[in-house]
Order: sequence, then structure tokens, then C-alpha cells
Amino acid sequence: MVKDFPEGFLWGGAVAANQCEGAYLEDGKGLSLQDVTPKGGIGGLITPEPTEDNMKLVGIDFYHRYKEDIKLFAEMGFKVFRTSIAWSRIFPNGDDAEPNEKGLEFYDNLFDECLKYGIEPLVTISHYETPLNLAKKYDGWRDRRLIGFYETYARTIFTRYKDKVKYWLTFNEINSIVHAPFMSGAIYTEKEKLSMSDLYQAIHHELVASALVTKLGHEIMPDAKIGCMVLGMPVYPMSPKPEDVLKTLERDRENLLFSDVQVRGKYPSYAKRLFKEQNIQIKMEPGDEEILKNTVDFISFSYYMSICESTDPSAKAGQGNIMGGVPNPHLKASEWGWQIDPKGLRYILNTLYDRYEKPLFIVENGLGAVDKLVEDENGNKTVEDDYRIQYLNDHLVQVAEAIEDGVELMGYTTWGCIDLVSASTAELKKRYGFIYVDRNDDGTGTLERYKKKSFDWYKEVIATNGKSLIE
Ligand code: BG6
Repeated sequence: MVKDFPEGFLWGGAVAANQCEGAYLEDGKGLSLQDVTPKGGIGGLITPEPTEDNMKLVGIDFYHRYKEDIKLFAEMGFKVFRTSIAWSRIFPNGDDAEPNEKGLEFYDNLFDECLKYGIEPLVTISHYETPLNLAKKYDGWRDRRLIGFYETYARTIFTRYKDKVKYWLTFNEINSIVHAPFMSGAIYTEKEKLSMSDLYQAIHHELVASALVTKLGHEIMPDAKIGCMVLGMPVYPMSPKPEDVLKTLERDRENLLFSDVQVRGKYPSYAKRLFKEQNIQIKMEPGDEEILKNTVDFISFSYYMSICESTDPSAKAGQGNIMGGVPNPHLKASEWGWQIDPKGLRYILNTLYDRYEKPLFIVENGLGAVDKLVEDENGNKTVEDDYRIQYLNDHLVQVAEAIEDGVELMGYTTWGCIDLVSASTAELKKRYGFIYVDRNDDGTGTLERYKKKSFDWYKEVIATNGKSLIE
């Protein structure tokens, strides 16, 4: 029998504005990074202007259909819905003097719609969708002025939504900037031309900005919970060879440096050697160290897979979520080569909790798969996605184990609770949802929504607070 989930556990689902809203120029929205990356955000093609083949321009038309979609989330029993605010709807160029009222109104309506059903919005302030102008004019987060623009944006949305939104995340997968400097850090300069100092300077700016708005958020909304969000990826040594184990530690720290700063309020002691050996010089302004002391209330993370690390030069990196790693011979992979490791979720929950002893929140987890629309015995269109049910069931069983281990977990939101455009490859055929959206990568489709088999399954999981899971 599956162990208990706590009372009031926040069950739900997650999306990001740029992957579902569409309406890329509607109501005064400016262009974001995503509007010029038709092939996906990780080191992909950047076009001078938006091109028709960019699936994100229409997305799943959530901008116009959110009422219908939230109704379906409510039917599943969601307690929380994670989405992001598209920065370029609020400040079309990022450095505008005044916000765009129409953009603000959209999120008023969206959050009201959630609250109508008792669903708490969980809002990512910046999810890979920085206004394009900030990338082109300032080279993104390399420029210290981004801190001010981000602060103005955060102040605007905190003030506007303080009575509607209690849970906030500062940057989606903040640690992904190391691998995807454009998508994650809005850095226009090609990755190959960036020095380590350039990169870590941008990271420093983001960390200062995150701490600054955490402080600001607490001032404006004393009851709010403001979290960091990291790409969670356990790294296992490929062998018990001490060299492999040490390399694993290093790789892990590359990821953990971010949450170490955001949770502990200062750079970790290992950063000193890292910076010295990699010739990284960060320009700090007086007061930065003080600002960093404004730590987050909780740690949220995405979890899709684990990787291995090895010193063996013949070990080749496989495919994965943003950061590649050596494939694990003991695990199977999804159709996109992401290795499936439910126990890795229990492991990372425990390691993060051991390290920080602060509440955790799983804000992304799920299986991207090719789904086939079929007709059920009553003639209704559906998807028999047993593979997704299996994936989520197995991960949630491990979540229950971690809770039993003593981990304090606030909630769990599956990624892409409704089909959306993928971040890495910009495809719609990589589907994560409980709800199928009739749209194809050639742009055809009616945009109609259909419940998959996993819809009723997740509804039952929520209704029973996890008791229906199968060990
Ligand atoms: C995370 C991102 O890295 O992974 C999401 O925060 C993304 O934006 C998710 O969609 C799944 O990745 P993909 O490439 O399958 O969409």
C-alpha cells in the first residue's frame, strides 16, 4: 500500500506561457526569445523575425481557450496550476517605462478563473521567454541593467496580483543557463564566444535579481511563498572508481551552485576554487553580498531523468533534458532518449532535503511521448496512454517513499498537463498532457481538446490523495 501524502498536498499541473498561449502579438505583446526560435530553444536556430513554422506563435491557443482548459483542470481536481507570466506581455520591450495594461488584464482574468475553482496559481516570473529586445540590445543577463528591468517587472506583477497569487518562482531552471545561455539567460552572443567569466557574470546578475525580488515580494506580500526553481538531475558515478565519484561531485556542484546561493544566501565555499581554476572573475557591486542574503522560502525543481558521469574518454553523452550525460545501462529511455528513473526522484528529493532542510516542490515531471488519437467504445476520441500512467504512477510511488523518508514536500505539478509545444525541439508531437490538443507540427488541426485515459487516472489519484497509486 502506498504511503501517505500529507493533508493539503498541492496536486496539479504545469505549463509555461510561451509553450501554450500563442497570440504572440496580441493585445500589445512584444516579441520574446521564443518567437524567433522555431526549432527549439537549446542552441537552436535564431531567426531575424518570427517565421510561420514556429509552433509557439499559435501554441495551443491557450490565450483564447484558457477558460475551457482550466475547467478541465478543475474537473481533475487540481489544487494548484503552475504557469508563467509572459514578460513581453507586460513589458513588450523589457525596458519600457510603463506596463501594458492589456497584458496585465489577461493574467487578472486567468488567475480569477483559477481561483473560481479553488485552484491556487503558482507563477513563474521568467520561464525562457525574456523580451527579445533585452537580448538584442543588452545581451541579456550579461548586462547588469537587466536586474533593474526584472525588478520593475516583478514589482508590477506583485503589486497587481498580490491578492490572487501566493506562490511564486523567480527563474525557471535557473541552472540551465550554463547549457543554454540564450534560452535561459537571453544572451545573444553565441555560446562558443562566451568566456566563463561572461557566463558567471550573467549568473551573478540573475542570482542578485532573484534575491532582490524575493525581498521585494515578501515586502509587498507578507504571506507569499517565493521559491527558486532548478533543473533537477541526479548525477550517478558510472563506476565506483574514485575519479568517477569525484567528477560526479563536481558535475553535481555545477548544478547545485545556484540553489546553494538562493537557499543559503551566499556563494558556497567550493565556488572559490571553481572560479580560480576556470579563471572566472565576477564583478560584484557593494551591497550584492547583502542582497544575496534574502533567501527563498522553498526549493522547486523539475525532474525527468538522471544521468551518469565518467572519466572514461570513450563514454559518450546521451540525450536528455538540456544537460546531456552518460547513459545509464540499467535504465530504459523515452522516445526522445530521456532515461526513465523513478527512484532517481526519491533520491533527489532526499539529497535536496538533506542539503537544505527547506520545503521542496516538484513543479515538473512527466513523459513526452507520441500519442495516437483513437475512438473509445462510445465513439469519443481519446488516447490510450497507459505508458504515461505507468510513468507517473511509478514516479509518484517514489515521491510517497521520499515523504516517508522525512522529506517535506509541498506539492507536485506534472509537466504539460495539457499538450503544448516542447521547449527543446519546439514540436507538438512530443506530448505530455492529460488532455490531447488537436494540433500537428505542420500547423493543421482543429485545436479541439480531448481527454486522454490518464485524465481519469490523475483525477482518481488526486481524489484519493495518492491512495489509488499502485506499488
Ligand atoms: C523543462 C522546461 O526543462 O523541461 C520546460 O522547464 C520544458 O519548459 C520541459 O518543456 C520538457 O522539455 P521538452 O523539451 O520536452 O519540452
